[in-house]
Amino acid sequence: MIDTIISSEDDATPVILVSNDNFPGWTQNAPESTQAWLQSNRFKPKPGQHVIVPATDGSIDCVIAGINANAPSMWDVAHLATALPVGDYALQSVDGKPAQNELDSLALGWILGGYRFDTYKKKDKLPARLYLSADYNEKRIRALAEATFLTRDLINTPANILGPEALAEAATRLAVQFGAEYEITVGDDLLKNNYPAIHAVGRAATDQPRLIELTWGSPENPTVALVGKGVCFDSGGLDIKGAAGMKLMKKDMGGSANVLGVAQAIMAMELPIHLKVLIPAVENAIAGNAMRPLDIVETRAGTTIEIGNTDAEGRVILADAITRAAESKPELMIDFATLTGAARVALGTELPAFFCDDDDFAASVLGIGTKSDDPLWRMPLWQPYRKMVDGKSADLTNSPDGGYAGAITAALFLQHFAPTDIIWAHIDLMAWNLSTKPGRPEGGEAMGMRAIFAAIEAKYT
Ligand code: BES
Ligand code: ZN
Ligand code: ZN
Repeated sequence: MIDTIISSEDDATPVILVSNDNFPGWTQNAPESTQAWLQSNRFKPKPGQHVIVPATDGSIDCVIAGINANAPSMWDVAHLATALPVGDYALQSVDGKPAQNELDSLALGWILGGYRFDTYKKKDKLPARLYLSADYNEKRIRALAEATFLTRDLINTPANILGPEALAEAATRLAVQFGAEYEITVGDDLLKNNYPAIHAVGRAATDQPRLIELTWGSPENPTVALVGKGVCFDSGGLDIKGAAGMKLMKKDMGGSANVLGVAQAIMAMELPIHLKVLIPAVENAIAGNAMRPLDIVETRAGTTIEIGNTDAEGRVILADAITRAAESKPELMIDFATLTGAARVALGTELPAFFCDDDDFAASVLGIGTKSDDPLWRMPLWQPYRKMVDGKSADLTNSPDGGYAGAITAALFLQHFAPTDIIWAHIDLMAWNLSTKPGRPEGGEAMGMRAIFAAIEAKYT
């Protein structure tokens, strides 16, 4: 629950938003003492800068905060949630700038900046609260903030607390909250119901592998399928990771956490679609029954996979989940996965790689992503590399020799399982902030979530 949004203006301190454009004019009309205070604090109307203006009785009169003049970014005042003293605040435009839609986005940035993962740690200072007048689209701000908090919480929760079973419980709670149907296929039932690839990856873990399925909305509406990689911990399997590479691997279910975030926002905003969510949830663990290098694994689609590397487990479980998602005949299918280190080498940790077989949908996602401060970068489904994922003794290999173009070959592997008559998109993301930035504390992060939600919203409303 978001407890930093308040609906009463009483005692809310104004946060006056100024930019290079309107700051000179605004200061001229401000009281002399305020002008002097801004001078002595060397205040500049730039994003990330703010100054607290005291009243004569020692209370806070107002806060002046800088934003970008032309297009304020969502993060321009996001640091204020933690930088300001505990209390209630209200954003205030100068001469109608920023406009209401920009205020909505600044408000969301502020709320996201108030996030902390403190379930297992005594609370320190509380974040500053924000008043939203009736002019704000509070329903949408709340939906996106709650979706982001859910995603971050799930990623931040370590694997001893959030294994496949707990991930399924979290998905079930979400389903119950919004009246969605759900079905979980666990352990040997995966074999009985023909999900051999999910079983092969997850069978060595004590917490049994499972496929989580959520269905929501009227079947009369167009079907949209979301698929998320749910590797609750990725040790690498027998091709074990080193300590540095393994450390953050509680976040390897970040794809599924983002998918649950998008699903939560879709259901909260009641978008007119028929939603299918598929999450293969496993732990990539080591035991006597773990899958081995060069094992040949069956898939639901009938395609066989040669295990070139047990650490390329994400694409193996996604194969079955994508096949299952396709059975519901979606118009659009999007998967989110912390799939490759190669995508991070190519684009760094903050820019998810976006693959899509439809240029119009891709353009919409990229455009909306830029506008919603949730950027993605398109990478090619480069068919000349398709032969690199051919297996020697099976149809496909999960780890092509050489390792060049690793993010592309992983995407091409997934594309094999996505039917050509639907729009399919794949997001290879970090799902983690390595350091704190305004609005984005270090730790689990939603990436591509607002962009995909808003692209679905734009396509279907
Ligand atoms: N979960 C990792 C990918 C990953 C690592 C994402 C670090 C983000 C940050 C994935 O399961 C993996 O280990 N992939 C291997 C594939 C390789 C063996 C073909 C990789 O990227 O090294
Ligand atoms: Zn791996
Ligand atoms: Zn992985």
